[in-house]
Amino acid sequence: MDQNWKIETQAVQGNYAPKAAEPRTAAICQSTTFKYDSAEHMAQLFDLDCADPMYTRLGNPTTSVFEEKIALMEGGVAALATSSGQAASAVSILNICKAGQHVVSASTLYGGTYSLFANTLPKMGIEVSFVDPENSIDEMKKAFRADTRCLFAETIGNPGLNILDFEKFSALAKEMGVPLIIDNTLASPFLCRPLELGADIVVHSATKYIDGHGTSVGGVVVDSGKFNWTSDRYPELCEPDKSYHGLRYVEKFGPLAYIIKARAQYMRDLGVTPAPQNSFLFNHGLTTLPLRMERHSFNGLSLAKHLEKHSKVSWVNYPGLESHPSFSATQKYLPKGASGVLTFGIKGGREAGIKFMEACKLIAMVVHVGDARSCVLHPASTTHRQLSEAEQKASGVAPDLIRVSVGIEHIDDIIADVDQALAAS
Ligand SMILES: Cc1ncc(COP(=O)(O)O)c(C=O)c1O
Repeated sequence: MDQNWKIETQAVQGNYAPKAAEPRTAAICQSTTFKYDSAEHMAQLFDLDCADPMYTRLGNPTTSVFEEKIALMEGGVAALATSSGQAASAVSILNICKAGQHVVSASTLYGGTYSLFANTLPKMGIEVSFVDPENSIDEMKKAFRADTRCLFAETIGNPGLNILDFEKFSALAKEMGVPLIIDNTLASPFLCRPLELGADIVVHSATKYIDGHGTSVGGVVVDSGKFNWTSDRYPELCEPDKSYHGLRYVEKFGPLAYIIKARAQYMRDLGVTPAPQNSFLFNHGLTTLPLRMERHSFNGLSLAKHLEKHSKVSWVNYPGLESHPSFSATQKYLPKGASGVLTFGIKGGREAGIKFMEACKLIAMVVHVGDARSCVLHPASTTHRQLSEAEQKASGVAPDLIRVSVGIEHIDDIIADVDQALAAS
């Protein structure tokens, strides 16, 4: 039944149906361990023959509610919640890629993910090649190797705000025989469902729109259950796993193999587990996600249009504007809205950018996006200040660039705050 509901209903009631006298709101199960009566039951848990909770590092009832709801909303078969968005991206790759193997990724990535791919995965022996997502399939194919294990990209690039050409990327992944992993953080499943557009796996920083209230850091990996792991490339999913008495994931779990393997191996060994309290807050966040995304998108577009006409603004980058290079992709892949993040250029450059940020009153100076409350950042003087001007330019951060994560306050108040801060800059 839940699969047939609209996403607004799934967000509120999906995959959580309490029985008589059970809590209407999925409660916080603040327990590390779970009690059992028989050695046989315990043995079943350890052999992965039974999905009951055993130890919170591997799974927890509050976290399961979050995992099942987000899997439903993304149209996947299963999900694995993690302690952060960074952990979700790392686990999504480590689950199918080991030292000596290779990943291809769009270059337009969140800075933390870029660093994971450019610095940390290579230290673990996994090389990543970056491709310009605007290039043709034939051009991007040149980056693939025999040992390439996946293709990675973001729905809405952060902070470039380019919209991914899903048709091109899913065709490329299919032709190269690898899964397409999509970071859907800035869009959320309300605005875009990558698994319906040819992606195989979705990751999120739940810290952003899923939480929506700036309370918790977390992440999640969702699997479509559709990728065929039985080619020679993914023996770790098909051949016996020594750490589980010779278990073969695909043979035993079919479409659930990828998520069960990620949980059994990476939650067990790395322990990047969300706290039950955070999962509780993500469940609350999901309940209102569709409503918030509508408002974020409306406010984002309204502010972008206002800024386009403002005499103190030299350029505006918002994928919902007709002037944006991704506008046709936005209409095709994000018809319900282009989310709440925009960037613009302030006349007067770096100095004016600092003054603007400091003059904002309603909009807070915060290193964050996806919050119900509006946030502003001048990257050149904050997140990217250690870089030289040339390095900043290479990473897409111009001295005049201001990033706003437009919240869900009334648009008139947001515009009034931006106008007074522009006047003060
Ligand atoms: C698109 C995107 N992916 C991943 C992350 C990393 O998420 P977290 O901060 O939850 O680790 C972020 C954080 O800003 C992000 O914007």
